[in-house]
Amino acid sequence: MSAQAAAFNTSFPAGAGTTTYNYTVVRQFAIMTLVWGIVGMLVGVIIAAQLMFPDLTYGIPWLSYGRLRPLHTNAVIFAFGGSALFATSYYVVQRTCHARLFAGPLAAFTFWGWQLVIVGAAITLPLGITTSKEYAELEWPLDVLITLVWVSYAVVFFGTIAKRKTSHIYVANWFFGGFILTVALLHLVNSAAIPATPWKSYSAYAGAQDAMVQWWYGHNAVGFFLTAGFLGMMYYFVPKQADRPVYSYRLSVVHFWALIFTYMWAGPHHLHYTALPDWAQSLGMAFSLILLAPSWGGMINGIMTLSGAWHKLRTDPILKFLIVSLSFYGMSTFEGPMMSIKTVNSLSHYTDWTIGHVHAGALGWVAMITIGSLYFMIPRLFGRSEMYSTKLVTTHFWVATIGVVLYIAAMWIAGVMQGLMWRAVNPDDGTLTYTFVESVKSTYPFYAIRLLGGVMFLGGMLIMAYNTYKTVASGKAVDAPVLQPAPAHA
Ligand code: HEM
Ligand code: HEM
Repeated sequence: MSAQAAAFNTSFPAGAGTTTYNYTVVRQFAIMTLVWGIVGMLVGVIIAAQLMFPDLTYGIPWLSYGRLRPLHTNAVIFAFGGSALFATSYYVVQRTCHARLFAGPLAAFTFWGWQLVIVGAAITLPLGITTSKEYAELEWPLDVLITLVWVSYAVVFFGTIAKRKTSHIYVANWFFGGFILTVALLHLVNSAAIPATPWKSYSAYAGAQDAMVQWWYGHNAVGFFLTAGFLGMMYYFVPKQADRPVYSYRLSVVHFWALIFTYMWAGPHHLHYTALPDWAQSLGMAFSLILLAPSWGGMINGIMTLSGAWHKLRTDPILKFLIVSLSFYGMSTFEGPMMSIKTVNSLSHYTDWTIGHVHAGALGWVAMITIGSLYFMIPRLFGRSEMYSTKLVTTHFWVATIGVVLYIAAMWIAGVMQGLMWRAVNPDDGTLTYTFVESVKSTYPFYAIRLLGGVMFLGGMLIMAYNTYKTVASGKAVDAPVLQPAPAHA
């Protein structure tokens, strides 16, 4: 057995030790992933409804669109996505290193500290307390707490790697580790600010520099928070569920280095046609186009892991979630480079096309791979061989998939329509053919379809919550024994 296969193979029984894996913190994060997923998506459904019915929340300031929108993005990215990343990285690093989590109390602190950050966000954002930097809206006291939690996370994760009993560091841990280090750097640089009062600070940067730092952060939040960590999930849960080795281990290593190198430079595509120097915009565009290659290399590596086991897709709904998430990943990482081309961006920017792209990645990729990974972990964390109902997992899969397709197809059509309407001019006198309000009116049917898609996706999450409740209620929390490494000749 090769070193990487030994690191990945967690099922051989040889000499199971007496110490156990720390599943407590994994269980806590796994359950909260589900809870915050439902909360964040519910807020998403509310703001989707507000775009159709602007008076929905009776003009109450805390519930206004401008305050609920950042609540949605923070809840889905950091509460739902963040908890999923903590849960899976803690599970995977222990299983593939054959070691109990390093510094148990610190791991517990990361759980409670992260929940405190989320509660802080849920209170401050509706109150209108915000730095106004997208995806970095939280004010400086919460930023300090995030830093403390994140440093502890790094200590726990890399401490576990350091005490591993396997010689090899399995590739999923490279992705999780890259994500942890990069997010620390992004957070520290972009959140640098001068506090003025306990709940108000001013950015350390100004003007075009502020914008550039912000979108260097914003794009890498996509690249590392919403991508690299989730690729870590892919490299563990897809081979596990398919019961096949990764298609090409060599490709996974090339994938890692190519992806992390390229993502760093692509941020300026968020600032096309702005005060940012033109060369920087072109650089961002060039690197975004290059990014297609490592993104698709990774996707192909994930999907091809199924070679020889394609038939399992027919009957295994967990595998369906994992593989369909990779298809959406491929779709959004093809669309992104196209949208980064300046002339295409001149049509897509400010339109709902961007929103369609975001949710192809966020719902199709991030949420679907998370759901698949949770369905894999939950029975194992609660001493059962499988979820309470496989039928309900299948139902969830179809409801969610149809929901995403409705959401993104509606936004693509709406976005291209808006872009074309805004740029249409009358040939005779060069005046605009449509008023802005006409484009808003034409978007209404698509907002209705998006709302339906969102309600379906949320409905799927509620089915999952019921299935999880029944699984947990009929099982009991168990911590599996730490496995001893196989002998070198095994
Ligand atoms: C039921 C599911 C969801 C619904 C109904 C929903 C709905 C929405 C709506 C209506 C917006 C505002 C669009 C606009 O301003 O025009 C939005 C923005 C956003 N959502 Fe969602 N969402 C859902 C799930 C998610 C998930 C799971 C994620 C991430 C993992 C996510 C990430 C985002 C992001 C990043 C934005 C901001 C996009 C931008 O500024 O360009 N959403 N969502
Ligand atoms: C090769 C990979 C990708 C490239 C090159 C890329 C490129 C782009 C471009 C050009 C935009 C529009 C910028 C604008 O006009 O303002 C954009 C927006 C966005 N993309 Fe991607 N994308 C990629 C993958 C993804 C993935 C996988 C996700 C989600 C998991 C994602 C999430 C987002 C978000 C959240 C925004 C909206 C940012 C904002 O304005 O608030 N992207 N992306």
